[in-house]
Amino acid sequence: MIKKRVLVTGGAGFLGSHLCERLLASGYRVLALDNFFTGSPDNLAHLNKDPRFELVEHDIIFPFFAEVDAIYHLACPASPIHYQSDPIATTKTAVFGTLNMLELAKDLSIPLFQASTSEVYGDPLIHPQQEAYWGHVNPIGPRACYDEGKRCAETFCFDYLRKYSVRVKLARLFNTYGPRMHPNDGRVVSNFIMQAIQHAPITIYGDGSQTRSFCYVDDLIEAIVRLMQTDETVTGPINLGNPEEYTIRELAEEIIALTESRSTLEYLPLPHDDPKQRRPCIALAEKTLQWRPKIALRNGLLATINYFKTQSQQSILSDQ
Ligand SMILES: NC(=O)c1ccc[n+]([C@@H]2O[C@H](COP(=O)([O-])OP(=O)(O)OC[C@H]3O[C@@H](n4cnc5c(N)ncnc54)[C@H](O)[C@@H]3O)[C@@H](O)[C@H]2O)c1
Repeated sequence: MIKKRVLVTGGAGFLGSHLCERLLASGYRVLALDNFFTGSPDNLAHLNKDPRFELVEHDIIFPFFAEVDAIYHLACPASPIHYQSDPIATTKTAVFGTLNMLELAKDLSIPLFQASTSEVYGDPLIHPQQEAYWGHVNPIGPRACYDEGKRCAETFCFDYLRKYSVRVKLARLFNTYGPRMHPNDGRVVSNFIMQAIQHAPITIYGDGSQTRSFCYVDDLIEAIVRLMQTDETVTGPINLGNPEEYTIRELAEEIIALTESRSTLEYLPLPHDDPKQRRPCIALAEKTLQWRPKIALRNGLLATINYFKTQSQQSILSDQ
């Protein structure tokens, strides 16, 4: 039997490329769509030989049509450095991009997975964050293009569900890391690993006591796939992430140890609106998807460090 054809927006990005790989491995035909703002065709180069895989360059701010059976909508810059570099394009991508994908889902009567974010909770006043929490977001700050863009995208999803019965599957993704993260995107895991590999000072914003939780990419992709397999009563929002919480200082120390680095810790002022703590409550995901992250931080970090080391060696060789 020929399996279904699915659309993955943001397919050339970090999470999108892993999702394309996973869907192909499960037998689907995959159409990846990307404008390469932060992603790269290199992330998908190993899939090019597969006749069931196709990559199309397109900006989702503009409508798109293809005959597909499901949409995994991930296109949007996700790191503060990238989404703040062109905040108006970020809001347009989050809002118009989601609108365009919902229109496609409506016209074709197909399900849509929406990659929302823990950033919709802002700097949370309750801890850990449950799906019922409405969030604490500054609507006019430098992070608002992303936070409010994603919140508006959520609004669109649930209005399309109520008005047009679009089968929405909305997940709020928490900090995820792994191979193919952008090395210079300023996200804490990639930053610390790159600094540690180069034996450069590890830059900690604030005193390092703020906490984050880190989910390895394979665990997250498994949850996304399971969410799409649920029946139509499951719409989300559903938190996906790893509830184990670490201080930023603990993360830095672990990465220094795993890379056997000579890096020291350097403390810098905390950026504007930086959340002080972040940890998902994943009780709903555990119950609905029978899922829980399995990969320990140490193992996920080792795989990620390995990837960044290989990338650095390749770029040194290509510069020679
Ligand atoms: N990685 C995380 O920790 C995390 C956490 C929460 C939410 N998310 C969400 O998951 C999704 C993927 O994140 P990621 O970490 O893989 O980021 P990423 O930047 O690696 O991937 C995003 C992809 O979308 C593409 N893109 C951006 N704007 C586009 C546009 N207008 N048209 C077409 N393509 C466009 C980029 O080129 C890139 O390939 C995003 O929607 C993000 O908000 C990620």
